[in-house]
Amino acid sequence: MFIAKNLAVNEKNHLTVGGIDTVELAEKYGTPLYVMDENLIRENCRLYKSSIDKNYDGNGLALYASKAFSSLSIYKIVNEEGLGIDVVSGGELYTALKADFPAQKIYFHGNNKTKDELKMALDNGVGRIVVDNLTELSVLNELALSENKTVDILFRIKPGIDAHTHSFVMTGQIDSKFGVALETGEAFDIIKTASEMQGINVVGIHCHIGSQIFDLKPFEQAADVMMTFMAKIKSELKIELSELNLGGGFGISYTESDTPIEYDKYMEAVSKIVKASALKYDLKLPKIIMEPGRSIVASAGTTLYTIGSVKEIPNIRKYVAVDGGMADNPRYILYQSEYDFQIANKAGDAKTETVTIAGRCCESGDLLGENVKLQNAGAGDILAVLATGAYNYSMASHYNRLPNPAVIMIKDGKERVVIKRESYEDLIKNDLF
Ligand code: LLP
Repeated sequence: MFIAKNLAVNEKNHLTVGGIDTVELAEKYGTPLYVMDENLIRENCRLYKSSIDKNYDGNGLALYASKAFSSLSIYKIVNEEGLGIDVVSGGELYTALKADFPAQKIYFHGNNKTKDELKMALDNGVGRIVVDNLTELSVLNELALSENKTVDILFRIKPGIDAHTHSFVMTGQIDSKFGVALETGEAFDIIKTASEMQGINVVGIHCHIGSQIFDLKPFEQAADVMMTFMAKIKSELKIELSELNLGGGFGISYTESDTPIEYDKYMEAVSKIVKASALKYDLKLPKIIMEPGRSIVASAGTTLYTIGSVKEIPNIRKYVAVDGGMADNPRYILYQSEYDFQIANKAGDAKTETVTIAGRCCESGDLLGENVKLQNAGAGDILAVLATGAYNYSMASHYNRLPNPAVIMIKDGKERVVIKRESYEDLIKNDLF
């Protein structure tokens, strides 16, 4: 009945997450409230690990792309599950280090890392820097030399693949701000330059073609193009790269119409291509790295809101307004993303209405969904938005000076607060007259 298997309806007709009554959670902790299911997150991590073991003899590593949801708790969970992580800022790196995440298993991404961030990464022994451009490469080399170090890096490559997803999250094509292009020779040239630098050790190449992808083809093409490039590097530069990082981007079900690929199918297909290519070009099998973000945490998250006003505009639409919106979930306003909505205290009822969910911010575009199916809604009802575990909390803002909601983690039928709700005090803590 629901898009995620950890959701159910209890005897009170209330929606449950991991066995916990969401209406009671809303009463106890207030709304808006992010609720995450730790068991499901762990299960997702294990699926990645086992697919690498099964299809590629364990010669790989899944990195959790922590931009999807970054907090002390998630880094601890992911570390316990044996994954590495991808960070993209000093802030994510700082949080991970504070959670005692092993620095060697951290990959540092970003198209415009600052010198301070690069130094922070070097000083803390971050495992890999994924270098985006020539300027960054020079800064990194100088930093490394000044500290008498050699830094292990990968290069972010634009493989020239069209991933057929929303243009805002499409990154593999030549017109992208991320990385260096294959087809112009830019990627080859930068690796040649790096190979002559004393402070740099080129370990591998990376690509990430986009996000929320449902098709295997672009992933297969990317693997093929990247392996062919590795062969060129070997034959022309005599460098044999040992890591192939193919990024993330695996789609998940936001609504019933979404049809994600099973992780295993992805790893099976990509492993075949990499093995065949290695044979063809006489390359050693590279370690395959993948970087799932959304598919680790999205379906494990549910956001709870309290419905305030319900406004019927005759012959036009019915607005159901909630106590959150674009400040805690900007994905509708950014990508027109679709969600499954449920009235948590009437979860077993049929969805008889078509409504527009309005947020509380002073923007007409502040909606969470338009013309969506919902149970009959009234003031005081609790609205649950499903699959909000990725890119919601991490993209939240303070627009209209709204405090960020709390995050609750559920594990084995018990809940705990992993991020406290911000107070008004928190909002002004850095303000000065
Ligand atoms: N690796 C790199 C280098 C990335 O840039 C990303 C996402 C990932 C991995 C993880 O991709 P995932 O498995 O989560 O699709 N805010 C957008 C998504 C932006 C994705 C940015 N990069 C959204 O809410 O849909």
